[in-house]
Amino acid sequence: MAGRQPLLEDFYVVRRRAEELGEGDRSWVLNGLRGVGKTVLLNELLSQVSDRGWITAKVEAGASASLSVSLSQALVRGMRTATGRHPEPRLKRLLGVFKAFSVTVDPTGAVALGIDVDPVRGVADSGRFADDLAALFEVLGETARDLRIGVLILIDELQEATPEELRALNTAVHHLGQADRPLPLTFVGAGLPSLPAQLAEATSYAERLYDHRPIRLLSEQASQDALTVPARERGVDWASDGLAAAIATARGYPYFLQSVGKHVWNNARRSPIDVEDVELGLVDARREVDDGLYRSRWERATPAQRDLLGALAGIGAEGPATVAEIAKAMGKPRTSDISAARDELIKKGLVYAPGRGLLAFTVPGMHDFINRQP
Ligand SMILES: Nc1ncnc2c1ncn2[C@@H]1O[C@H](COP(=O)(O)OP(=O)(O)OP(=O)(O)O)[C@@H](O)[C@H]1O
Ligand SMILES: [Mg+2]
Repeated sequence: MAGRQPLLEDFYVVRRRAEELGEGDRSWVLNGLRGVGKTVLLNELLSQVSDRGWITAKVEAGASASLSVSLSQALVRGMRTATGRHPEPRLKRLLGVFKAFSVTVDPTGAVALGIDVDPVRGVADSGRFADDLAALFEVLGETARDLRIGVLILIDELQEATPEELRALNTAVHHLGQADRPLPLTFVGAGLPSLPAQLAEATSYAERLYDHRPIRLLSEQASQDALTVPARERGVDWASDGLAAAIATARGYPYFLQSVGKHVWNNARRSPIDVEDVELGLVDARREVDDGLYRSRWERATPAQRDLLGALAGIGAEGPATVAEIAKAMGKPRTSDISAARDELIKKGLVYAPGRGLLAFTVPGMHDFINRQP
């Protein structure tokens, strides 16, 4: 987790506040491009509390089930673990509320609690997901405070949630913020850079609801740490010219750095890792990233979509370009001429709109790959 210390330190404060004061913090939204490390960060937050008796749930939006069902299923698992660790009478009301909630969310009974408890009716079972989720969050938070633990709810790939699901989430998080003393329930969502705008579109007040935290490429120092710290722990050093070459190639992109680290390690002969080892490793790493990340995306695009991607890659480096510029580069008189390709590419997750009338790649380095295509 090189370069993510500030965020992890902030989370440490969240954890202590929940456990020692029974209070929560504003919910967080991590946003960043593909492969910058959002998921590993969520996993790290989870691992910091999961062996401390917290009630946790982690789900991915846009997977097969609706968010309400998958979140319920994850909460079931979280609460089952909690019942094993905490005295059951203090959890009883929560479990009863949850039972009524889960039956409302999923009448087929797939979300079964597996614990014999009478449903508590009239709290979180109205059938309106937004209201029910808000009520459930409240009971979860109250129970956690009572047990001197916290609740951590994580949703990855949140940009895939429907506007309706985002609205429900905003409502629940907003409701949490209304308490005199914030309950020790923290929600952390993660998604592409379009996520803050999507949340804001779902409800007007969403801008102030979340602590938005952009997850960026790593600095040179953090990139160095990512490569050298794990090696040094194993008694291996990097020669400085080799390290410089590796860092210049990965350009702070965590996914690429991970691949560079792996392949350089595999090609290294002895400590210190020298520039020759690095050059061989970089060839393998480039191939892995090209094949595993860029090519599959490129091949998913139709010829018309590739024209647009090529134009975007030709105009800018990493940064966004306006749709008007792209249309012009493609020789199209009107921006509406490319709106079909634009929409399809957004749906395929290859590009996103960082602002009105703008377009950018979701994957760092994609422009570079495209510019190398014949
Ligand atoms: N801070 C870091 N230091 C070193 N390696 C990292 C760091 N963050 C992420 N990585 C590595 O980068 C890779 C991508 O991370 P991850 O899958 O979390 O990205 P992501 O942002 O969730 O991507 P996606 O949007 O595609 O889901 C992983 O192999 C991970 O180990
Ligand atoms: Mg991820």
